[in-house]
Amino acid sequence: MRVMIIGSGGREFSIGRVLKNDPEVSNLYFAPGNGATTMLGENIAIKDYEELAQFAVDNAIDLTIVGPEGPLTDGVVDIFKAKGLVIFGPSKAAAQLEGSKVYMKNFLAKYNIPTARYIETAHIGDAFKFIDSLSAPIVVKADGLCGGKGVIIAASHDEAKVAVSEMLSGKSFGDAGLRVIVEEFLDGYELSMFALCDGKDFILLPAAQDHKRLLDGDEGPNTGGMGAYAPTPLVDDLIYEKVKDRIVRPTLLGMQEEGAPFEGVLFIGIMIVNGEPITLEFNVRFGDPECEILMPLLKTPASELFYKAATKQLDTLNVEFYEQFAVGVVMASHNYPFDNSIPAEIVVDAIHHDEIAQNTHIAYAGVIEEEGKLYASGGRVLVCVGLGDSIKQARDRAYMLCGQVHFAGKKLRTDIAYQALR
Ligand code: AMP
Ligand code: GLY
Repeated sequence: MRVMIIGSGGREFSIGRVLKNDPEVSNLYFAPGNGATTMLGENIAIKDYEELAQFAVDNAIDLTIVGPEGPLTDGVVDIFKAKGLVIFGPSKAAAQLEGSKVYMKNFLAKYNIPTARYIETAHIGDAFKFIDSLSAPIVVKADGLCGGKGVIIAASHDEAKVAVSEMLSGKSFGDAGLRVIVEEFLDGYELSMFALCDGKDFILLPAAQDHKRLLDGDEGPNTGGMGAYAPTPLVDDLIYEKVKDRIVRPTLLGMQEEGAPFEGVLFIGIMIVNGEPITLEFNVRFGDPECEILMPLLKTPASELFYKAATKQLDTLNVEFYEQFAVGVVMASHNYPFDNSIPAEIVVDAIHHDEIAQNTHIAYAGVIEEEGKLYASGGRVLVCVGLGDSIKQARDRAYMLCGQVHFAGKKLRTDIAYQALR
């Protein structure tokens, strides 16, 4: 099978890594890939989606997997399908579940899927009135894609009103903020759940926890995610069943009804409040760094899983996972999440303990390659992944690998998986 992966992060590297070890996969392409994906396959520097689809036709690509939300909300899946290609991801219409928070919230309300109480509006007066009806903290969200920065947890009513005014005036996020959501704050613990969907059937992956804040103890600014682990013991069978019954099934049926059947990864941001799963948000792709820890837990060949999901055959698949835990620790550049950093050479010391070497690996993200050397090029640079029979063992191995990785300005959290270990 010839497979192409669209994207350039650690998420795409980790999908490529399992496909590279999959005997069914003969060729692997990344569009555009990063400085390390060339260890796994070939990087393709085509930006235009029509041209990329033509490349897939010309090179007899059997399956394309889309990593990030940008190409999905731009409609890359529709463009590929129009050429008769097999591609895993939602159509442009279905990708609105992530592309527009207003669309998502109204969808959740229409199909009675549990979510925080909210108002969706472009009018400052309505927003202020709803703010006054809530108790602080209050959550304010811009409608459109804001690179993960469009959510404000306001500590007071005044702060919420300032956030709304700045969004609606276009000051904070331009057009993406011209409609806003104001919603009640949910107090609980947060999970990332992923359902691989083929429009009709789905497979729910082991639940993960991300660590969105930059600093230990969940302090500091929000980031794309500083580390993750799975499966989390914070979820029992009952919660999995509730998520399937109350969130995933009604979403698949609802999207069919909307004329936009959902194919691809439904990423459900969940808050567990008093044992009940409440939907915080949907994304239409794998989480990053969650993907980096879920891929190595997959026992079923990834080629089979993604191909069947992309060809409406999930009902014929009995998916298996290793009975292990995975912990991923993100190493970011000095100025993350605010600014780029100057490139810094990455040096990975040799690992002499077989047990560590065999149960750890690196998923590379923000890296460039020059003359055989890898350089951290800013943002989240790489993820050190550890596997083990317990979360603690997996965590210890991940951190042992972190100790072997060096680049100037490297930044990491030291408490990944703390909620599972306390
Ligand atoms: P979102 O992009 O909607 O996932 O929001 C980003 C982050 O803000 C989430 O991962 C949560 O940690 C937090 N958040 C969003 N909505 C709420 C809410 N209603 N209550 C509490 N925290 C929230
Ligand atoms: N790690 C969360 C995300 O990918 O949005």
